[in-house]
Amino acid sequence: MAGATALTVPSCGRGNGRRAVSAHDPSVAARETTLGGVAPTIRRLALVAGPVQLDLAGHVVETWGYTGDPIRATAGEVLEVVLRNELPENTTIHWHGIAIRNDMDGVHDLTQPPIAPDSTFTYRFLVPDPGTYFFHPHTGLQLDRALYAPLIIDDPADPGAYDAEHVLVLDDWLDGTPEETYASLRDGMGNMDMGDMSGMGDMGGMGGMHSGNAPDTSMPTPTGMGMSTLLGGHPGDVAYAMHLINQRPTADRPTFDAPAGGRVRLRLVNAASDTAYRVAVGGHRLTVTHADGFPIEPVEADAVLLGMGERYDVTVDVGAGVYPIVAVAEGKGQFAAAVLRSGNGEAPPADTMPAELDGTTLGYADLVPHESVRLAARTADLEYTMQLTGQEMPYDWGINGSAFAELDPFEVEQGQRVRLVLRNTSTMWHPMHLHGHTFALDGGARKDTVIVLPDEEVAISFDADNPGQWMFHCHNTYHLESGMAALLSYVR
Ligand code: C2O
Ligand code: CU
Repeated sequence: MAGATALTVPSCGRGNGRRAVSAHDPSVAARETTLGGVAPTIRRLALVAGPVQLDLAGHVVETWGYTGDPIRATAGEVLEVVLRNELPENTTIHWHGIAIRNDMDGVHDLTQPPIAPDSTFTYRFLVPDPGTYFFHPHTGLQLDRALYAPLIIDDPADPGAYDAEHVLVLDDWLDGTPEETYASLRDGMGNMDMGDMSGMGDMGGMGGMHSGNAPDTSMPTPTGMGMSTLLGGHPGDVAYAMHLINQRPTADRPTFDAPAGGRVRLRLVNAASDTAYRVAVGGHRLTVTHADGFPIEPVEADAVLLGMGERYDVTVDVGAGVYPIVAVAEGKGQFAAAVLRSGNGEAPPADTMPAELDGTTLGYADLVPHESVRLAARTADLEYTMQLTGQEMPYDWGINGSAFAELDPFEVEQGQRVRLVLRNTSTMWHPMHLHGHTFALDGGARKDTVIVLPDEEVAISFDADNPGQWMFHCHNTYHLESGMAALLSYVR
């Protein structure tokens, strides 16, 4: 889905007389009215996408960001967000993970026209499901300029059995523009010359770790790019200057407070473009309660791995003290850090690597859906196999060997149970994300983004209950830009 490539709604199926259900089909609005109560509360908020400055530990950089109201709502409400575009180029917002009505999904030229500079667009949609989400542009490489924000949808029925709650948004920070990075990837140069950290100290690197427990799945090379067992090999294409939690670097890591002896809920969001994070809290096990916003049977782990676009909610029963939170940039020899504070005392050094990083990392096989979100047992009406294809040299990613613009839509009909078999025949892992639906893994857990390792096959199932035109793509910003995307097209 190259920024310059216009997306068009396919006007008809492949000679079978079926017509695509567009984002503006009456069935799109009709489906939303079946979700809401009689008169849902409307939550009106305002947002600006524009140039911002980020203070990276005293190093002030110009980038793009969202300013305005924090976006948070309760499931069942209608969210109305007036977006003003103060960027120098077109934009849109995609509300990642939310089973939104199709005309509000934010894919330019597919579900809405691009939002031009100095103009506004009003997003207005019912939020059906509670959970941890985020939003970001669906235009070119804008996401890798740190243009994203978390989106929490509260559960009116959630007992809230915790004493504090914090949202941690993880991001890889590029020293340079994503357009330059993409150009050098296309040229076969990589961007290894862009990892210049002069003036930033060495706080992002693993060089001076305080614990002897180097995470054993990461073997950084001098370029900082290594291999990762958890990711089945090569961890990423792009070398980043540093990694951020809530837009703060390790040298200015954020502190999250919790009452000693209390239970804290951490909502983890990976908003990065080319980095998976392995996250652990020193001295504590994590109880994982939600995957991509949807509840699972609580399960314990020492660490969680998040691909781009994935979210986990975890709770931690906090002792009295000051503990490191570390998000290792998996396989890249770098990390982001924060502090969990529930008592007095000095924070551990920022390069303290919790031993938990080497403990058990949550795997998809550990995820059991909470019964309230289990997809009813049913055989699939329709199955597609998609090969995830491509390589770094030449830099070219696709599905079934084709880039988005050349790929026929995958047609579905409303009411069908659909199964997608994802077979990764490429040289790298891909976090595959489906718009508008929360699918089920074969084990039943509901997710909207799933990591598929090289040589691995993963099957996902969902009910086609949200008419329209939906993207299914790799959430690596650069893979998406090079065409690793498919169109899931409702037809009738
Ligand atoms: Cu968060 Cu189409 O993606
Ligand atoms: Cu990919």
